[in-house]
Amino acid sequence: MKRTEFSQPSTGWRHRIRQLFQRRLGLLLLGTALAAIVISCGTLTRTVMAPPAIPGATFIGTVGCAECHEELVRDFRTASHARLMARGPNAMSTGCESCHGAGSLHSESGGDVSLIVNPEKSPNVCFDCHLDIRGSFNLPHRHPVPEQLTCTDCHDPHKGDAIMGGGTALFSQNETCLECHNAQRGPHVFEHEAMREGCTTCHLPHGSVNPRMLAQRNATLCLKCHFQEQRSAGRVLIGGFDHTTFLPQGTCWSAGCHEAVHGSQVNSSLRY
Ligand code: HEC
Ligand code: HEC
Ligand code: HEC
Ligand code: HEC
Ligand code: HEC
Ligand code: HEC
Ligand code: HEC
Repeated sequence: MKRTEFSQPSTGWRHRIRQLFQRRLGLLLLGTALAAIVISCGTLTRTVMAPPAIPGATFIGTVGCAECHEELVRDFRTASHARLMARGPNAMSTGCESCHGAGSLHSESGGDVSLIVNPEKSPNVCFDCHLDIRGSFNLPHRHPVPEQLTCTDCHDPHKGDAIMGGGTALFSQNETCLECHNAQRGPHVFEHEAMREGCTTCHLPHGSVNPRMLAQRNATLCLKCHFQEQRSAGRVLIGGFDHTTFLPQGTCWSAGCHEAVHGSQVNSSLRY
């Protein structure tokens, strides 16, 4: 995580507040802005971003949601975003309100849904803090968010590690991806051990400049793990096999070579 992406220099923050004055948006909105969300993490404390604005509403803290959303609040203790805190002398966890906006009016009304933000439909609430992620979803090859998918298809905002099935360590963490991509699910007679490292070893889950959202567009993708030996007379060995004439013909997974890169039912060299 590139923390700097979320941070705002204090001058930028003051500028923002000044702008609010200039636009005469009123004291209530200013109150919302001042209760900026900061992230406290060890010795690091910095302003992150203003949560979604709900005119007239003030923060009541995560405890204020517990009365009616008991289960969500209970589980939230384990959530990545539970570390988000409001600034100020009465600092309290505003975890819920960092995504849903200030909750006083929603709460006082007994749960009027028009007085709270539900980020289900639009990823903009997430993008407010995760600017770099917005960029990934503008790349030519990307998951279709928001057209067909939402951030919460892969991320749980309410419980545990926000990255579901990130696929960084164990095969089982690929489950989130395999829910929609059944064709890549094994078992295969000839497994490709790379799958244990996770889908994200080869795919950038948000978006990429490369087709199929691949992390690299050529043999580099595979040579991260497969040793390439340069022999005399310009011969190239990969996996102990002479690849000199193959490499100019295309990628490792095209041109009739290792096309069954996720695993093969018929061929130990990962072919169809
Ligand atoms: C990281 C952003 C984020 C945080 C933090 C967050 N939510 Fe949500 N919440 C969402 C998104 C996105 C949805 C819509 C998608 C979904 O239902 O998962 C949602 C949906 C909801 C819903 C309606 C659907 C349901 O599950 O009942 C409620 C109620 C809710 N959140 C309450 C809370 C409470 C209470 C907290 C704090 C304990 C909280 N949220 C923290 C992003 C967040
Ligand atoms: C006094 C009770 C009460 C309190 C306190 C309360 N809520 Fe709700 N909330 C409700 C009710 C009732 C609903 C509507 C549930 C439904 O229609 O399924 C609701 C719905 C929601 C929804 C879904 C909105 C939608 O578009 O469907 C979100 C998000 C939400 N609450 C967040 C929060 C957050 C965040 C807090 C704390 C800041 C909070 N609520 C505090 C009663 C409350
Ligand atoms: C108020 C700012 C804010 C909002 C809004 C927000 N996030 Fe975050 N999010 C953060 C911060 C800050 C971190 C880093 C937490 C840390 O590293 O300690 C984070 C971390 C994450 C992570 C990585 C978690 C991990 O365990 O490494 C994911 C995934 C994520 N957010 C997704 C989302 C999604 C999806 C939404 C919208 C539903 C969202 N965020 C809304 C501030 C925000
Ligand atoms: C198709 C599944 C998928 C969707 C949809 C998705 N993500 Fe992710 N996201 C992932 C995976 C997997 C990782 C972990 C990447 C890794 O381990 O290399 C991740 C990592 C993250 C992180 C933390 C690491 C980083 O790159 O900063 C954030 C923040 C995040 N996602 C935000 C979002 C937001 C916001 C949306 C919606 C606009 C979204 N994601 C939609 C799968 C997804
Ligand atoms: C909620 C369903 C869903 C989840 C979960 C999901 N995807 Fe996707 N994925 C899609 C959709 C929809 C598309 C676009 C399909 C299309 O345009 O043909 C897509 C496209 C792709 C593509 C490009 C396919 C192509 O033919 O160009 C890759 C690669 C991919 N996803 C990998 C992943 C990985 C890796 C994960 C886990 C981090 C994941 N997906 C999680 C629904 C999902
Ligand atoms: C060793 C690298 C690697 C790993 C790990 C990997 N993929 Fe792929 N994936 C590829 C390559 C290379 C292609 C492009 C194949 C092509 O264009 O013929 C691809 C293509 C795809 C496609 C497009 C349809 C297709 O089969 O051509 C989807 C969907 C996909 N991968 C999903 C996944 C999922 C889900 C996982 C994790 C379970 C995963 N991949 C793990 C390398 C990998
Ligand atoms: C994360 C590491 C990793 C990546 C990336 C990776 N592989 Fe592998 N691959 C392995 C491991 C480990 C094995 C099993 C041990 C071996 O045979 O080297 C293997 C085995 C193979 C085999 C079977 C070798 C044999 O003779 O049985 C082929 C073919 C193969 N990989 C092709 C590819 C291709 C093509 C790519 C790129 C799309 C790729 N690999 C990317 C780790 C990886």
